[in-house]
Amino acid sequence: MQPPLLSHKASRFTESVIRGMSVEAAKYQAVNLAQGMPDFPAPAELKAAACRAIEADINQYAVTWGAKSLREAIAEHASWHLGLTVDPETEITVTCGSTEAMLVALLSLINPGDEVILTQPFYENYWPDCVLAGATPRFVPLRPPGWTFDHNELAAAFNDRTKAIVLCNPNNPTGTVFTRDDLQAVAALCQRWDVTAITDEIYEHIVYDGRPHVALASLEGMRDRTVTISGMSKTYAVTGWRIGTMIAPMNLTHAFRQVHDYVSIGAAAPLQEAGAFAYRMPRDYYAKLAADYQARRDRLCSALLQIGFGLEPPHGAYYVMADISAFGATDDVVFSQYLVRELGVATVPGSSFFRDKELGQQCVRFCFCKRDETLDKAIERLRKLKVVV
Ligand SMILES: Cc1ncc(COP(=O)(O)O)c(C=O)c1O
Repeated sequence: MQPPLLSHKASRFTESVIRGMSVEAAKYQAVNLAQGMPDFPAPAELKAAACRAIEADINQYAVTWGAKSLREAIAEHASWHLGLTVDPETEITVTCGSTEAMLVALLSLINPGDEVILTQPFYENYWPDCVLAGATPRFVPLRPPGWTFDHNELAAAFNDRTKAIVLCNPNNPTGTVFTRDDLQAVAALCQRWDVTAITDEIYEHIVYDGRPHVALASLEGMRDRTVTISGMSKTYAVTGWRIGTMIAPMNLTHAFRQVHDYVSIGAAAPLQEAGAFAYRMPRDYYAKLAADYQARRDRLCSALLQIGFGLEPPHGAYYVMADISAFGATDDVVFSQYLVRELGVATVPGSSFFRDKELGQQCVRFCFCKRDETLDKAIERLRKLKVVV
């Protein structure tokens, strides 16, 4: 067969390791702690709101940049949660998941030769996003302890070609919740080099031990140069609904809405109506969400430590990077394959979060957005691992 005539961009992609692990998980009937999707139900009142919207025949295209009701609810939520005053008419775009939002932001901002700063390890979509947008990524390492960046290394990544920085906060895969001090450093550099910050705040409500979530856009001088991306997937346990949000100043929003229109037209109309209900949920919903995730974090992390993994309990998001050295493992991919095929637990090899693959070879990522019984089943299976002294 003739090889397909793929574009240079498409031929640079490889199969998503995370989704590939989910396929392996199904094949080997493994407990899936790879892909970050909850296995517990979405809130009943939210599902009812979606059913009501379909019954009410909200079944045709919504306004391309998002239903008015949803944009208004997002603005209300941003006011109390992020401390941002946002005009729903001119500063919000609703997309098909935050995944589309990130691509729209980069497609709208990048010209050939522009550089985008990414922290490394990074959420695996960011690199393909850069390829699609034609950006050259420049990496700033996040390292334990604390999985944070060195301020000098961050400063050294900025130059005349830097167009944007992508910051995932709370961070997938490391669980870092960047401190105000870290965010101030990012803000100062963005202002000095005239750079746009694109923040992925999809885990904005999943923060532990009483830490606050600070939106970069709320820092002095940043409102006009920050694109705040989030969505419903993680906060409301509806990863399949595909509702993402972008908050940005009017001039950027104008461009984003056009690109978004040509990419996808719009997100599912009835689910946007349900979204308007979701963003107005009482505040104790969010407190319980964080508390429940904290209990899941503690359940999995304490067991992993007992079994012999090395880790720092994450401060936010619902993943933990676990060091595998104690088991004599030197290759994360081989180790992950062993876990899924022999022990029946799917994880993500650490190297898939790095461009410099060797930096991730000593760890795997577990996710814990799962019911207690799912986590317990995985833990029981992992107890068969032997520590090599
Ligand atoms: C950091 C990060 N951003 C974005 C996404 C995808 O979000 P959405 O479902 O809104 O496209 C994920 C999903 O795992 C994620 O971890």
